[in-house]
Amino acid sequence: MRVDFGRLKRDLLELGQIGRSASGGLTRPSWSDADAEARRWLLAKVDAAGMRAQVDAAGNILGRWQPGSPAVLVGSHIDTVPDGGALDGALGVLAGLECLRRIKEEGVALRRPLELIAFTDEEGAFGGFFGSYAFTGTLSKAAIPAMRDVRGARLVEAMGRHGLDPLAAPSAARDPKEIHAYVELHIEQGPVLERRRIPIGVVEQVVGIARFLVCYRGRADHAGTTPMGDRKDALLGAADLILQARELIQRDGTTASRVTVGMIQVMPGVTNIVPALASLTYELREVDAALLRRLADLSRSLAEDIASRWGLALSVETTLEIPPVPLAPRVQEAIIAATDELGLAHLRLPAMAGHDAQVVGRVAPAGMIFVPSKDGRSHSPLEATADDDLERGANVLLGTLLRLAA
Ligand code: HGY
Ligand code: MN
Ligand code: MN
Repeated sequence: MRVDFGRLKRDLLELGQIGRSASGGLTRPSWSDADAEARRWLLAKVDAAGMRAQVDAAGNILGRWQPGSPAVLVGSHIDTVPDGGALDGALGVLAGLECLRRIKEEGVALRRPLELIAFTDEEGAFGGFFGSYAFTGTLSKAAIPAMRDVRGARLVEAMGRHGLDPLAAPSAARDPKEIHAYVELHIEQGPVLERRRIPIGVVEQVVGIARFLVCYRGRADHAGTTPMGDRKDALLGAADLILQARELIQRDGTTASRVTVGMIQVMPGVTNIVPALASLTYELREVDAALLRRLADLSRSLAEDIASRWGLALSVETTLEIPPVPLAPRVQEAIIAATDELGLAHLRLPAMAGHDAQVVGRVAPAGMIFVPSKDGRSHSPLEATADDDLERGANVLLGTLLRLAA
């Protein structure tokens, strides 16, 4: 049995039109109008496939046609970063849908039911992994009222506009015993498979992520009358931290360590006022849990040293902390068996991006299949994967699901 790649490709193109901007990229953050349209589109597709489409209390979209438990879950997310690509997330959901359609069409008798899932807000418009945290019972209810997007819009209102109350999201928790396995097909988002000309990646573990909101507070002063030596310029602290963090990671980390400052806000943000406040997002990634903790500790000390050097006050708030997660050997073996059956080569590798599989993988057996990314690009409108590679990945997913559910 093989997937109907023409049908999958049409689905990818259709969903890839929702939220498309002039740049060619997709902007479909969770709970935006584009996301709402994509959600309606997916629900209709799941229904048309003869499955019972459902939305749980966290906004996760689910589809299945067989009752029973434990289930083999397949999916990913359909939200995107601003100006992202059409495959990051959507591929895993739509290939999962195609696999379930084919299995249903063929009437294959399986021991375990299959279930499709599209997780809410993987990309973190309001924090990250909201749907998978809720689904796995690891969402902190206390944190929900404070969840906001970059413009300060509250999640409570954003979800409320779609008829959902995020405070009820923890009730979406599924008993891990009901999850036999979770499988996610995703683009690699890095250059390894393409460089080595290997069509299938078998993910061994997913990188750990620690995110902080670092805020330097100084003093607003006149840009003309305040001598350089008399200033408490918050932005100088931020600038110093950004440059020194890079050195810290290169000195104390490994080639698999990352630090990124992706967002910075300066207040009052006026040409002729010395910045009184500079807040920045500070994100660390590392595949080794102990090293991730060490890099986080070193980063805090660095931020403090910089605050005293420039005479600033400092606050550091942890906004996301997810350790590196090894993926289940049993699921990896099923992926490799499916890959071998198709006569394809595979490579075991770590995932350097975050994925719902790492959230699910903390409570139940989870696995990930990677397909090559052109030039390793992603989180960019230039994200792309060759059709042949997409088709191979979808067929490996199909073989994996058949094995896990048999
Ligand atoms: O941030 C990540 O790594 C993922 O794409 N959400
Ligand atoms: Mn992404
Ligand atoms: Mn993704």
